Amino acid sequence: MTIPSVQMNDGRMIPQIGLGTWPLKDDDAPAVIVTAIEAGFRHIDTAFRYGNQKGVGQGIRDSGIDRAALFITTKLDGEHQGGDKAVAGLDDCLRQLGTEYVDLLLIHWPIPARGEFVSTWQTYERLQASGKVRSIGVSNFKPAHLEHLAAQTNVVPATNQIQLSPRITRTDHVAYDAAHGIVTVSWSPLGQGSDLLQDGVLAKIAARHDKTPAQIVLRWNIELGLVPIPKSANKQRIAENLDIFDFGLSAAEVAAISALDTGAEKRVDSDVDGH
Ligand code: A2P
Repeated sequence: MTIPSVQMNDGRMIPQIGLGTWPLKDDDAPAVIVTAIEAGFRHIDTAFRYGNQKGVGQGIRDSGIDRAALFITTKLDGEHQGGDKAVAGLDDCLRQLGTEYVDLLLIHWPIPARGEFVSTWQTYERLQASGKVRSIGVSNFKPAHLEHLAAQTNVVPATNQIQLSPRITRTDHVAYDAAHGIVTVSWSPLGQGSDLLQDGVLAKIAARHDKTPAQIVLRWNIELGLVPIPKSANKQRIAENLDIFDFGLSAAEVAAISALDTGAEKRVDSDVDGH
């Protein structure tokens, strides 16, 4: 099985599907990571805040895979915003993961009221030059935050990782990212355990392609040029989530799935402007 990659604006490639690791903890992560790598996952998404980087690193070592074959993303959040706090934050991540570099480092949340994401980004630019991180990006940034960043800095984020599923399509955010050369990565693409996967429209399309609703949702991401990072701790579902590259959806099917958008957006404290 070949997993396609998407080119980022710094010329590097990101595998078009990755394994989400929230809310895995250190104890559970190693076995899940080994299973995912054996199934074919080459892109793993973690974060300082998840508290599982040691377990993720252990799993990578247990798998025996060559580090260079993997694409590892991590994120630093509020604790490492401002000043040069991200320098120590990244070193801590590298130590926990047991790796010399990460492929992608993200600002986990903009936290606009703190007014520190611009200076944090300038630190990220230096970290990229240091070689400890290959690509730099952001997460949970709205177009206004990206506009602000663009006005004050020189490097456009390679990716913006946002919550995105058929019920939360964020077409305006995706269009903004695309227009500015930013790859959109979808977190909780499967609806995070909600009843999304029981939806009748998805069931009908799934039956037509002899696939599961989860596979249809992930394939919808691929058709839209998005990079989904589904989380699963289950061997069968991990394999299922990768088995999406032998079929395609019609434009009408993509539109029908996009029409499931409810206009709602899960409110997460740090996602609220002004928090
Ligand atoms: P599990 O880890 O037991 O597989 P999201 O990535 O949108 O946050 O969704 C994660 C949730 O979806 C988890 O509860 C995960 O449970 C479940 N999940 C992951 N893959 C599948 C799948 N292929 N089919 C059904 N549920 C899935």
